[in-house]
Amino acid sequence: MTGSALLRWGLAVAVASLAEAARVAPPLPVLPIPTAAQLRWQRREVIMFFHFGMNTFTDSEWGTGREGPATFRPAALNASQWMDAAAAAGVSLAILVAKHHDGFCLWPSAYTEHSVSASPWRGGRGDVVRDFTDAARARGVDAGLYLSPWDRHDERYGREVAYNEYYLAQLHELLTGYGSVSEIWFDGAKGKNAKNMTYHFHEWFQTVRQLQSSINIFSDAGPDVRWVGDEKGSAGTTCWSTVNRSMITIGQAGIENYLNSGDPRGMDWVPPECDVSIRPGWFWHKNETAKNVSQLLDIYYNSVGRNCVLLLNTPPNSTGLVDDADIAMLRKFRAAVTTIFGTDLAAGSTAKASSERGGRHGGFAAANVLDGRDETYWAPTAEDGRKNGYWIELRRPATADGVGGPPFNVVRIQEHVAMGQRVERHVVYVDGAPVANGTTVGHKRLHRLSVPVSGRTVRIWLAARRGTPLVSAVGLHLDPFVAGMI
Ligand SMILES: *[C@@H]1O[C@H](CO)[C@@H](O)[C@H](O)[C@H]1NC(C)=O
Ligand SMILES: *[C@@H]1O[C@H](CO)[C@@H](O)[C@H](O)[C@H]1NC(C)=O
Ligand SMILES: *[C@@H]1O[C@H](CO)[C@@H](O)[C@H](O)[C@H]1NC(C)=O
Ligand SMILES: *[C@@H]1O[C@H](CO)[C@@H](O)[C@H](O)[C@H]1NC(C)=O
Ligand SMILES: *[C@@H]1O[C@H](CO)[C@@H](O)[C@H](O)[C@H]1NC(C)=O
Ligand SMILES: *[C@@H]1O[C@H](CO)[C@@H](O)[C@H](O)[C@H]1NC(C)=O
Ligand SMILES: *[C@@H]1O[C@H](CO)[C@@H](O)[C@H](O)[C@H]1NC(C)=O
Repeated sequence: MTGSALLRWGLAVAVASLAEAARVAPPLPVLPIPTAAQLRWQRREVIMFFHFGMNTFTDSEWGTGREGPATFRPAALNASQWMDAAAAAGVSLAILVAKHHDGFCLWPSAYTEHSVSASPWRGGRGDVVRDFTDAARARGVDAGLYLSPWDRHDERYGREVAYNEYYLAQLHELLTGYGSVSEIWFDGAKGKNAKNMTYHFHEWFQTVRQLQSSINIFSDAGPDVRWVGDEKGSAGTTCWSTVNRSMITIGQAGIENYLNSGDPRGMDWVPPECDVSIRPGWFWHKNETAKNVSQLLDIYYNSVGRNCVLLLNTPPNSTGLVDDADIAMLRKFRAAVTTIFGTDLAAGSTAKASSERGGRHGGFAAANVLDGRDETYWAPTAEDGRKNGYWIELRRPATADGVGGPPFNVVRIQEHVAMGQRVERHVVYVDGAPVANGTTVGHKRLHRLSVPVSGRTVRIWLAARRGTPLVSAVGLHLDPFVAGMI
């Protein structure tokens, strides 16, 4: 045989022997499970909101609907510059408020005169939604849109059929005229003295699905993404991606706690999104400034670190640009996240577990939690839970002094949520001593420790769960901001 023939033969033998070892099938999912679009959304972790419109020019948060279109006059609107903000924050999805409660439309809707067409901006030929979606796409950012159901301008509001038809016609414009839309936002907000109006959410949602098949629909009650129940960017320390949609009425007060924590017995997969503004208000006001990095990091831990997606709002100003100071803060925030999570102090550890489904080479080994991939995960055998309970442990290499591994103060745990959210209670031990504990894990759970520790073993005890736990990652990090090192 020639060298290359020998190589081919060797490869064939290797492939054949791999094929002989029958694979162990993955365990059954625990329902409900996310759709592909929901999984993609979850893995984005941080996304952005742009509140811009009439309120930007009137220094208000809720316009009256009586503003004249002449008020809308950004001198130098540049949506590409807004994408500088998205790039600074490192996000892959940005959502624009196309119409807020004041009813003024940022695109030239054919169904009303209350839009950019009637404004002096670009001689009435501008289209903010077009600029926004084009600029996003040019930067590889997916686009989302917000269309307020509550409308304080349109005279059809309060006449049920007429207004629902108007709203649906606008949904058609937005979802057929601007390419792919990844998320649509239905805000439940409505003033106390607003006219009584029934929104035809069923018609709206089904129309959205027909027009954009891989979109995620946000409202208090989903169907794809739910509100987290507050505007502080903070989920419950217990946070299930599951709820019973039948228990949620959109816009209803009193369900915030249910939205904040989800429902361990929920029949529907509707994970929460944490909407919060980088400034005190949703719209730009001259007198306000951006939150600082430590506030933004707190928000990150309380949202992304509790199984949520963070929707961070950065409002463009009345010139039509995002303030440079806000962009600089976004850049610092992203740099801080990269500083903390860019280095995994679990690297070089070996992983052991209470058991491994199919054994060490069955495809579900403990080592999968260290490979940095969402698709692979550790799965124990089903029997193991009945005997000793489930645990996974990292054994860290010693440092030169032989004492412990490099110090860390953040523990990251991630479930393989594609197969359902399972963990109900967990405890983290370092060298046998409990250092953190909690209830749910979900896509990502982050524990901040009050002081850095440098133990040799880190064990995660999965004290209660629905079915067998499936863990896709365990990471250890050093946050210099917590420790007051920065
Ligand atoms: C708009 O913003 C982009 C991105 O910052 C910049 O490259 C471009 O020059 C700006 N356009 C104008 C007309 O200022
Ligand atoms: C609003 O209208 C609905 C039916 O259209 C009715 O059931 C409800 O009682 C009304 N609410 C108020 C506050 O008038
Ligand atoms: C959600 O629905 C399930 C199944 O019907 C039920 O067991 C559970 O109790 C419900 N949750 C609440 C909070 O009622
Ligand atoms: C800034 O001004 C707006 C409008 O006048 C006001 O509603 C808001 O409370 C002010 N913000 C702060 C932080 O004072
Ligand atoms: C960030 O802002 C908060 C609230 O205003 C303040 O308490 C904290 O000292 C600030 N942190 C830094 C590092 O500036
Ligand atoms: C809006 O932000 C841009 C960029 O920082 C700045 O040049 C402009 O002066 C700001 N406009 C207002 C009204 O503050
Ligand atoms: C869980 O942590 C809390 C403090 O955060 C502590 O009081 C409690 O004892 C811990 N429970 C376990 C089981 O370690």
